[in-house]
Amino acid sequence: MTITFTTEPAERLADAERARVLEAPAFGDVFSDHMISIDWGVERGWYDARITPYAPLVLDPSAQVFHYGQEVFEGLKAYRRPDGSVVTFRPYANAARLNRSCARMAMPPLPEATFVEALELLVTTDRDWVPEQPGHSLYLRPFMIATQRTIGFYGPSDAYRFMVIASPAAAYFKAGARPLTVWLCEDYTRAAPGGTGEAKCGGNYAGTLVAQAQAREMGCDQVVWLDSAEHRQVEEMGTSNMFFVYGDRLVTPELSGSLLSGVTRDSVLALAGELGYTAEEGRISVADWRADAESGRLTEVFSCGTSSMITPVGEVRSKDGGWTIGGGEAGPVTGRLRAELSGIQSGQRPDPFGWVHKIA
Ligand code: COI
Repeated sequence: MTITFTTEPAERLADAERARVLEAPAFGDVFSDHMISIDWGVERGWYDARITPYAPLVLDPSAQVFHYGQEVFEGLKAYRRPDGSVVTFRPYANAARLNRSCARMAMPPLPEATFVEALELLVTTDRDWVPEQPGHSLYLRPFMIATQRTIGFYGPSDAYRFMVIASPAAAYFKAGARPLTVWLCEDYTRAAPGGTGEAKCGGNYAGTLVAQAQAREMGCDQVVWLDSAEHRQVEEMGTSNMFFVYGDRLVTPELSGSLLSGVTRDSVLALAGELGYTAEEGRISVADWRADAESGRLTEVFSCGTSSMITPVGEVRSKDGGWTIGGGEAGPVTGRLRAELSGIQSGQRPDPFGWVHKIA
């Protein structure tokens, strides 16, 4: 890996300005001082790994990513602990998922060790960017784009770039742990069997913006995606997976091939078992969701993902009206899982699963 550090004062945010951002980070609009890039070519494989000052890219306007959307990405966080050390969470799970997304999008795999090394180097170099406040973190965004110069659509690109950038982050949903109001999306479909729904690729998100706008118009925070055939089975939310809580039994929609296999989802399945709950994958229909919420059998619903962590869902709106869950209040199981998971990440709770990965 070649290393080119930021030369002051060019590009680099002044210390005072960085301190101001770290006091109250938003999500995803300010970036740390450096970025990682690694190129790939048919003949050479992965080459020219480098860390350089964060800066705009120079890419050919015909680069395949701009026209045919060959792109995948990941998201994970680095946390500063009270003793000053910096850790990340299950980075090899993200590395493995990146490669599953690459396989679906006909892109070359990146060795998992290289993925983790790239994160470690960026976080170590920009460690001053890891916020100190509990609940805040440095969000890491690894991604891969197709860079071949061509607007012919004959096959996968013959050149790619893998990159990592980093952005200090507070809670994704501005009101913190306020229960979300969600919109059941029946006019649009996010993914269908055999499609790209399970891959973390940009196109999956671009296609959902119109539904997200509809959700906002209806006064909702997020969209809930349903199965493509009948719009009856719950799949996932716009930026996260979902769990349904029946007392001490938790159910999350099974991996049908058209929803994202979230790292937080997988962690909640394991953690819930450890805490004495029953946690399983299954099918949840909209009709059951409504009936069980109205009868009180369904006690809580929460969303889970890297950026949004564990966030309660209090209200559902749809064309047929709506309903609340648990009176619209955040429930104890959601609160406990959130506290336990963030405790593992911050070092305040033991890590029986070996999920925490020390960086610096
Ligand atoms: C994440 O939670 O890390 C994601 O990738 C969701 C993104 C749309 C913010």
